[in-house]
Amino acid sequence: MEPLKGLILSGGRGTRLRPITYTSAKQLVPVANKPVLFYGIEAMAAAGIEEIGIIIAPETGEEIKQVTGDGSEFGVRISYILQDEPAGLAHAVLTAEPFLGTSPFVMYLGDNLLQGGMTDLVDAFRTNEPDALILLTPVPDPENYGVAEVDADGSVKRLVEKPPEPKTDLALCGVYMFTAGIHDAARAIEPSGRGELEITDAIQFLVDGGKRVEPHIVRGWWKDTGRLDDMLEANRLVLDTIEPVVGGEMVDSTTHGRVIIEAGARLERSTVRGPAIIGAGARLSDCYIGPYTAVGPGCVIENAEVEHSILLEGSSVRQLDGRMESSLLGRNVAIGRSKGQPRAFRFMVGDNSEIGIL
Ligand code: G1P
Repeated sequence: MEPLKGLILSGGRGTRLRPITYTSAKQLVPVANKPVLFYGIEAMAAAGIEEIGIIIAPETGEEIKQVTGDGSEFGVRISYILQDEPAGLAHAVLTAEPFLGTSPFVMYLGDNLLQGGMTDLVDAFRTNEPDALILLTPVPDPENYGVAEVDADGSVKRLVEKPPEPKTDLALCGVYMFTAGIHDAARAIEPSGRGELEITDAIQFLVDGGKRVEPHIVRGWWKDTGRLDDMLEANRLVLDTIEPVVGGEMVDSTTHGRVIIEAGARLERSTVRGPAIIGAGARLSDCYIGPYTAVGPGCVIENAEVEHSILLEGSSVRQLDGRMESSLLGRNVAIGRSKGQPRAFRFMVGDNSEIGIL
């Protein structure tokens, strides 16, 4: 088989993560203080893929280019491919055709996370040489995904995009492997009800044409980080795997369990109960950080309790009586209070927001 290329889809509007995505690409929202997108690039690099094309949208493409660079940091070569409109995943494949040429490739949705990477799957694809390899996983809400029906002998029978009445609970995960035949399939299909060229329909076209589509059930977890709860869940799953390192300055402060304190962070009279990560240059005083929290670089937390939350760079939380939990703060968000006895908070606010509890 020719060397595999990588195609990462990092366009889309991220409507389910607004307001965060008004000012930043959803693929750059950090999970355990690292942009979601980077996990996909690293997984491809680990699977031996050297050449990666990243599909970008006009609105967020520049930011993605700036943060991700030419790939040298990951040991790969990255090219950027502009998709003018979010016209579907199969449209993205067609947009990338000049980059992909006749190469087989792995397509990865830039806001997805796959535990354990893709090395085994890439090996299976190289060895078995099917026309396409798809990943499936059981989900509680299949109507929100592409859904697969698989025969008793394990072959793919039918794939339907977001069926109102799903026949199975097997969702298509956002990692696919294709040979060049997918381009003709993408050209042959019509836009779906939502006006997009669906990759699900293009794969169904391969099935209908008697091509070999090999399904793999995902072992471990897979997450599409499109919504707040998924983002928090992804953060939880990744933090569960970190190795503890205390690199910052600890003054009358303690950590328990899996905790990373990055160099340049300073904690005073504070407790961090892992799994948690505190970013470089963060300043924490008189606070408690509970499990599954990722505090971004340069954040300030004073006299507050924060748990099961993601704080992006430069945000601050001050003088909260109640515990802030299950929250996602954008960049440079400031949360503080003066007086009163509030009991619980739940926030999802965009970059540069300011919330005062009075
Ligand atoms: C897309 C695909 C869908 C797949 C899902 C995985 O959905 O169309 O088949 O199951 O990704 O995340 P979208 O994110 O465009 O709604």
